[in-house]
Amino acid sequence: PTVRVVGAPTDYGANRRGVDMGPSAIRYAGLAQELERADIDVVDDGDVRAPRAEERDPEAERPASGRAKFLRETREVATRLADRVAGALVGDELPLVLGGDHSVAIGSVTGSARNADIGAIWFDAHGDFNTPETSPSGNVHGMPLAAALGVGDFGDVEWANAAGLRAENVAIVGLRSVDPSERPAIADSDVTTFTMSDIDEQGITSVAEDALDVATAGTEGVHVSLDLDWLDPREAPGVGTPVRGGATYREAHSAMEAVAERGCLRSLELVEVNPILDDRNETASLATELAASALGKQIL
Ligand code: ARG
Ligand code: MN
Ligand code: MN
Ligand code: MN
Repeated sequence: PTVRVVGAPTDYGANRRGVDMGPSAIRYAGLAQELERADIDVVDDGDVRAPRAEERDPEAERPASGRAKFLRETREVATRLADRVAGALVGDELPLVLGGDHSVAIGSVTGSARNADIGAIWFDAHGDFNTPETSPSGNVHGMPLAAALGVGDFGDVEWANAAGLRAENVAIVGLRSVDPSERPAIADSDVTTFTMSDIDEQGITSVAEDALDVATAGTEGVHVSLDLDWLDPREAPGVGTPVRGGATYREAHSAMEAVAERGCLRSLELVEVNPILDDRNETASLATELAASALGKQIL
């Protein structure tokens, strides 16, 4: 299908400014050209409107109740983005969302799961399973998976809770940084986890196949959420929350190639690219390459 790119230039979900420039950095790195070279049709839908730091209510940074910052902003962008993603799918296109911090995934996933039962694979150093109650930081980019699954305070929030997503069809791949407060929520859920140690022991090929089995079991398609901090910071220095010991360049491509080969990809997102912290835009450039692999780029 034609790939429809939509940017979500947010930074309020993370502590570090600059991740709002992720969509520009990824486009500047040559996303459209990289996909066209791989014979993938691509149209760029521009960005959803996201409130800039200078126009935000500073009080939202010090929430009165709970510990989630900028929840109103999060809801607005999630709602707009979900409509764009669902709209692309109705038109038989494949949505490719460019973040922005990972809070945008709430919109991507709810949009992707609006008219179908889907699975999701979260390639990430982090669990993103905090709730406003458990979060040590208050940053919503540490919460989108819990939000999409309606876990915790998100339970009856209609803009989170992805209708067609069940925890049994969710896999997290590459885990190596989980907050003590978020550990019980992951353990109590039916989400399947693959830590970096699992990748060390089983190899990325086997882990990717297992994750795809989880996400495709009884579903109509898979949302792939690729947080660039999944990769080792040596490969992907331009991220806000780097954690040593991540996936290598080849492991990352191999996993994306497995996604393409399974033929189940429904929607894709590339998040947490921060060009201000990057080394000559190499993380954005890597993001374009990984997107091409996930979308079926062939070598021969
Ligand atoms: N677990 C930490 C928190 O809740 C970090 C989350 C980082 N998430 C991300 N999408 N980079 O604040
Ligand atoms: Mn992360
Ligand atoms: Mn994340
Ligand atoms: Mn470098």
